[in-house]
Amino acid sequence: MKIVVIQGPNLNMLGIREQQIYGSMKLEQIHAQMKDFGAQNEMEVEFFQSNLEGEIVDKIQECYGDANGIIINPAAYTHTSIAIRDAISAVNLPTIEVHISNVHRREEFRKQNMVAPVCSSSIVGFGPFGYHLAMVGMAQIMNEIKAVQEMQKQSQATQEN
Ligand code: DQA
Repeated sequence: MKIVVIQGPNLNMLGIREQQIYGSMKLEQIHAQMKDFGAQNEMEVEFFQSNLEGEIVDKIQECYGDANGIIINPAAYTHTSIAIRDAISAVNLPTIEVHISNVHRREEFRKQNMVAPVCSSSIVGFGPFGYHLAMVGMAQIMNEIKAVQEMQKQSQATQEN
């Protein structure tokens, strides 16, 4: 199973930007932990960060036919991007949205969320640990998909015999 982790604008500045809100971990450290968890749970994990909306849309589209699930923090584009929302909806993969901060407790403009309605689930306000929680959630989703595939294989084999 392959998972693509997509990080939006300014998340490359984690560890530097507003540490009281986003914590002190760098993006590379978060990704290293996610990769380890993936290796322990039969998940290949690819990472992508961009500050550009169109590049994020392109990456989501590339996931179609290539990945089994997406973990995405669209950062500021969460609140504005119909293009990212439409791309998530188009590829129709299990998609977990992560926000490091609790966006519901912050400025009014962060309460608008374009992507949440097209995601499978959202993890908000756990700090960088939210990415680990997303990996645990994704492992569960992948196990459920594998179980369904296994059942389908077995019933096909029974029909053929
Ligand atoms: C964020 C929340 C957004 O409102 C903000 O623009 C970000 C990060 C978060 O992870 O808490 O850049 O997505």
